[in-house]
Amino acid sequence: MTVYQATVSAPVNIAVIKYWGKRDTKLILPTNSSLSVTLDQDHLRSTTTSRADESFERDILWLNGKEDPIKEGGRLATCIGEMKKLRKQYEDANPNEPKISSYRVHIASNNNFPTAAGLASSASGFAALVSSLAALYKLPSSPSELSLIARQGSGSACRSLFGGFVAWEMGSATSGTDSLAVEVAPREHWPEMQALVCVVSDKKKGTSSTSGMQRTVETSTLLQHRIREVVPKRMEQMIRAIKDKDFTTFAEVTMRDSNSFHAVALDTDPPIFYMNDVSRAIIATIVEYNRASVAAGGPVKAAYTFDAGPNAVIYALEKDMAEIIRLVCYFFPQGVSFEDPMGVFPSGVQSGVPEG
Ligand code: DP6
Repeated sequence: MTVYQATVSAPVNIAVIKYWGKRDTKLILPTNSSLSVTLDQDHLRSTTTSRADESFERDILWLNGKEDPIKEGGRLATCIGEMKKLRKQYEDANPNEPKISSYRVHIASNNNFPTAAGLASSASGFAALVSSLAALYKLPSSPSELSLIARQGSGSACRSLFGGFVAWEMGSATSGTDSLAVEVAPREHWPEMQALVCVVSDKKKGTSSTSGMQRTVETSTLLQHRIREVVPKRMEQMIRAIKDKDFTTFAEVTMRDSNSFHAVALDTDPPIFYMNDVSRAIIATIVEYNRASVAAGGPVKAAYTFDAGPNAVIYALEKDMAEIIRLVCYFFPQGVSFEDPMGVFPSGVQSGVPEG
C-alpha cells in the first residue's frame, strides 16, 4: 500500500512595510504592497504533515494537537480546495500519476514557539499548510505560485513562502492572479541582519488583524494617504536599501512605517491601540540610542517595528546586537534574558517585560 504523506515547515516573517487593509476580503487582496524579513534558523516555525488516503471520510486539521474545524467557504477550506485543484490539473497533465486529488486529507500542524509569545502564527501556519500539500501532491509550482494560495489563508502568510527579504506585490487584477510574493534578496545577501524579539505581553490581542484592518479601511481617512502617497515610495526606498545593504535607510523606513501603521490604527473609528506604555518606552530607548550614536559620529544601529500587538521586534546588524540586548535588559530589568533556553528565538535571546 502506498502512503501519500509529506511534512514541511515554514517560518514566521516580520514586516518592515506593513500590510494593513484589504480591497477584497474573500480573495485577500491588499490595499498596499508590503515587505518583510523571514526569520530563519529553526526557531519560530510551523511544521505541518499532510496525508491523503482513500479511506478518509472528511478533511481534518489538528492545530497543536487540537482539531480546528474546517468551515465550508472558510480560509482553510479555500486553501485545501485550491491545492486539490492544482493536483487535479497535474493529474490531467500526467496521466500516470496516482489519482489522489479526490482523496480527503488529514493535516497536523504544530508551532515550535510558545503561542504565549504573542507572535502571529497564521503566517507560518498557512505557509506550512500550503507547502506540505504541495509536497504531498508533488506539484512543480514555484514559491510565488504557492504564495497565491497561502495569501488566501492569511495575507501575511504569502511572504513566508520565501526566506530572506520578501515583497508582497499588491497586484491590480480583480482575480488576484498578480497579488503574490516575490524574493527581493535571499538571506545570504545580508547575513549580518538580525532580529530581536521582545515579548512585552503574552496576552491575546484585543482586536484581531483581520477585523482591525477592515475597520481601518471603512473609517480612516489617513489610510488613503498611506496607501497612495506613503507606501509606494517606501517600497522603492526599502528595496533599494536592501539591495545596497544600507542599514540607515532600512532602519529609518522600518521605524517610520511602523509608526504610520499605528497612526492609521489610531485614526480608525473607534480607535485601535496596539502598543502599550512599555512598547512606547522601547521606541524612546531605540530613538535615544540611535541619536547618541549619530551624535558621536556613528551610524544608526537599530530599528524597532510593532505588529498588531505590543511586542517589539528590533532589527540590527550582528555587530551591534549584543549591545542592544544589554541596553534592553538594562532599561527593562524585569525582563528575562537568556541564551535560547528553549531553542525558540531567532536571535538566541528573548527579553520579556510584564505588562503594566
Ligand atoms: C500588522 O496577515 O494576520 O502583521 O490577512 O486578515 O489574515 P489576514 O491578516 P494578517 O495581518 C498581518 C498584519 C500585520 C502586518 C504585516 O504582517 O504585514
